[in-house]
Amino acid sequence: MKDPLALARRLDAVDYLVDDGLAMALFLALKLGKPLLLEGEPGVGKTTAAKALARALDTPLIRLQCYEGLTAGEALYEWNYQRQLLAIRLAEAQHTPLTDADLFSAEFLQERPILRAVRHPGPVPPVLLIDEIDRADDEFEALLLEFLGEAGITIPELGTYTASTPPVVVLTSNRSRELHDALRRRCLYHWIEYPQPGRAAEIVRRAVPGAAEPLIRTATEFVGGVRGLELDKAPGMAEVIDWVAALSVLGATDLAADDARWTIGAIAKTPDDRAAVATALGTHQESQL
Ligand SMILES: Nc1ncnc2c1ncn2[C@@H]1O[C@H](COP(=O)(O)OP(=O)(O)OP(=O)(O)O)[C@@H](O)[C@H]1O
Ligand SMILES: [Mg+2]
Repeated sequence: MKDPLALARRLDAVDYLVDDGLAMALFLALKLGKPLLLEGEPGVGKTTAAKALARALDTPLIRLQCYEGLTAGEALYEWNYQRQLLAIRLAEAQHTPLTDADLFSAEFLQERPILRAVRHPGPVPPVLLIDEIDRADDEFEALLLEFLGEAGITIPELGTYTASTPPVVVLTSNRSRELHDALRRRCLYHWIEYPQPGRAAEIVRRAVPGAAEPLIRTATEFVGGVRGLELDKAPGMAEVIDWVAALSVLGATDLAADDARWTIGAIAKTPDDRAAVATALGTHQESQL
């Protein structure tokens, strides 16, 4: 991959469309081997960026979904207690004593996503997606620092594993809480904006191939405008895609159709938003008469 443009083309080939800023951020993350922290409103394509990168590089995607209460045992590694117990019983039955070193050996280690990424044999590095890091407790971030800084994990009983082919690491956050400076410092950073109307239309065109051209254009423009209203939940790209898919199934070719009103639940997800979007749609339809 010689430059950001070449990467953008590869991503385009797997239907992920980037602007220059995101192409540069992803390119640098690859070339410098640094983790990339992606932030942006819901539905701007943060999670899909990592998935698309894995497909574009033709390499496995290893995914860690973060949530409140996520522990090291679920994210890094865990000892297989049941197998250890069995080994102890067996050893007792055979009168062959087991030492701690026997029990805490690689044989009894269970890989979780981060250790799996560190131990990936290569030659092409995997893409590790640490999705929605802001949902994990802030202590969890501290567990990641060694890995993010050195592409390694220290297991007290076994020593340090360092990746021979360091994974491409993408972290995402919705900013539901502030992340620690220590974590930010170890990452490159990019804020993903909503796509411009032209790119947004192209994203929808690829996702809903049968949709009529005027429907794609007016729906993406309308949703772009609706994001400027004070909504509880601004619609992202997934919502536009759902809306156009719904209208297309119903045979609509543009937003003038009555069906636009009946399918508003695809883009407005609370009673207040529904009312606000319905009003905006009414104004839009009148202006088309
Ligand atoms: N640049 C893009 N190219 C192609 N598809 C895109 C792009 N951006 C968003 N999408 C589409 O929009 C949808 C939502 O994207 P995604 O789930 O990645 O958003 P997100 O930022 O992770 O949202 P959340 O914060 O809610 O998790 C997906 O269906 C994805 O295919
Ligand atoms: Mg996501």
